[in-house]
Amino acid sequence: MTVLELKSYAKVNIGLRIMGRRADGYHDLDTYFHRIELHDNIRLSFELRDETSVSITGNEGYMPSTATDLMEKAARLFSTMTGIRFHADISITKRIPVQAGLGGGSSNASTVLTALDSICGGVLSRDDLMDVSLALGSDVPFFTSGFAAAHGQGRGEVLEEIEAVDLPLVIVQRRGDVVSTREAFRMADEERRDRLPLPPWTTDAARWRNLYTNDFDPIQPILKDRDYLECASTALFHSTSGSGSSQILVASGPEDAARLTAMLEASSAYLDVIGTSFSKFIH
Ligand code: C5P
Repeated sequence: MTVLELKSYAKVNIGLRIMGRRADGYHDLDTYFHRIELHDNIRLSFELRDETSVSITGNEGYMPSTATDLMEKAARLFSTMTGIRFHADISITKRIPVQAGLGGGSSNASTVLTALDSICGGVLSRDDLMDVSLALGSDVPFFTSGFAAAHGQGRGEVLEEIEAVDLPLVIVQRRGDVVSTREAFRMADEERRDRLPLPPWTTDAARWRNLYTNDFDPIQPILKDRDYLECASTALFHSTSGSGSSQILVASGPEDAARLTAMLEASSAYLDVIGTSFSKFIH
């Protein structure tokens, strides 16, 4: 039996333009993905067997819906593609909020897929791994790429590595503000917007507020809350991540992050506030 202890990181989007609806129902995007320090822990036990089976357990309060389905799907797709049969026992400690635009379920699926591949000696090519990832979900290829930060186009699978940044980050979600990705795209389709791509990437976060917008901003209820906006406007940059509903507030340093956290926590009892950071060095 092989046992691996893995970290499954979240991502945020810095800018996200919806470039258009495609014939297959998906949308072409233009976005900058950035991996962040916030992560779930996954313990994966692997044993060769005659038939493939997957069991998944999680910590208390963990909603075993989308993430469980995607991790199981990742393991079964890996088995089908390689012909390797096994039992995978997955235990997850969830910290990344679900359905929040932070890619938690996608990251979990990518972590399981790439871990199974490495346990089995790297049987799948990088192209195969990226194809399976896209079959699992639009955000999965970014995690599988291993890039700390990337320019994403297409559904999110056309990826080009960009320079990562090292800055503290505060993530905020108002309790109850949860919307499915599919529904968020439907609502965003009703908004008027231009279809201009994002300006080129810069690591100078002080310039982001003048450069990068997220087309899901107009459908975020929290961005109509004046108390929240008062706090957010003091950050170096603030924006929706992915299709929401989590908001990212970029701080200029650790003291600024502590100031933002205190300000947000004092502004409303209904905010979940998570302190984390961008990082170049995590893996
Ligand atoms: O790819 P994923 O399963 O994460 O997408 C969930 C839903 O979000 C899709 O069914 C689709 O409605 C919408 N979506 C989209 N265009 C994308 C990504 C997602 O329309 N690029």
